[in-house]
Amino acid sequence: MSADTAAVVVDHVSKKFKLYRERNQTLKSAVMRGRKTVAEEFWAVNDVSFEVPEGHTFGLIGRNGSGKSTLLKTLARIYYPDAGSITLRGKAASLLEVGSGFHPELSGRENVYLNASILGLKRREVDARFDEIVEFSGVEKFIDQPVKNYSSGMYVRLGFSVAVHTNPDILVVDEVLAVGDGAFKEKSRQKFLEFTRDGKTVILVSHSLPQIREMCDQVAWLDKGTLREVGDAETVTEHYEKALVDEKE
Ligand SMILES: Nc1ncnc2c1ncn2[C@@H]1O[C@H](COP(=O)(O)OP(=O)(O)OP(=O)(O)O)[C@@H](O)[C@H]1O
Ligand SMILES: [Mg+2]
Repeated sequence: MSADTAAVVVDHVSKKFKLYRERNQTLKSAVMRGRKTVAEEFWAVNDVSFEVPEGHTFGLIGRNGSGKSTLLKTLARIYYPDAGSITLRGKAASLLEVGSGFHPELSGRENVYLNASILGLKRREVDARFDEIVEFSGVEKFIDQPVKNYSSGMYVRLGFSVAVHTNPDILVVDEVLAVGDGAFKEKSRQKFLEFTRDGKTVILVSHSLPQIREMCDQVAWLDKGTLREVGDAETVTEHYEKALVDEKE
């Protein structure tokens, strides 16, 4: 497999949302306006293009609200771009976010089956991998408890374990590592290495620049919905850090 093949091609992608505004909040003005609301268009992702090389860990950085999660959801086909296109090679990307995909009232065991089936595994495939999934997550003792009683770290460990064991070609991870402890971070790092050695691709959002530098080869920096810079992790994180400092001054 060539290292230069693109796993993901993001081509002039834009995604807009509508912002609804309530200007005068009196009952009279609301009645006068009737059912009409004032909506303004807002481009959360604006004409972004880059390529993610296959078999690498790719980072996405930027300030709060810069469009990172919106772009990841577009990659995972949860959102459809309003302009441009995204091309994925291989099995569709699995998106992993803190707290997504789990049903709080169900047990860990039931959630593993539910979540794995949403991510495309058949029941017998989950049966075959169940012990491994639970072992990797480290929540064996609590697997039959409802996940609403899990700590946020346990929740994420189990979700992460399911996602990596469904074997996606592209794994998309949104700030999940932030809630894990040191041991979990190390385990995740090893898993990403294993993934990329197999020619799979990881796309990672994190506000921890040391973590981005440690795990990613290349990084894209989003700024208010636009692509500010894309390149090797050291260079881009350095420029981003400098911009954050400059802004404070
Ligand atoms: N479903 C939605 N409807 C309306 N606006 C949205 C929606 N999702 C995101 N936005 C807006 O799009 C912008 C980008 O949000 P996004 O969640 O992509 O940012 P982010 O870079 O992931 O930020 P953070 O670092 O805080 O996670 C924000 O202004 C947000 O309010
Ligand atoms: Mg986000």
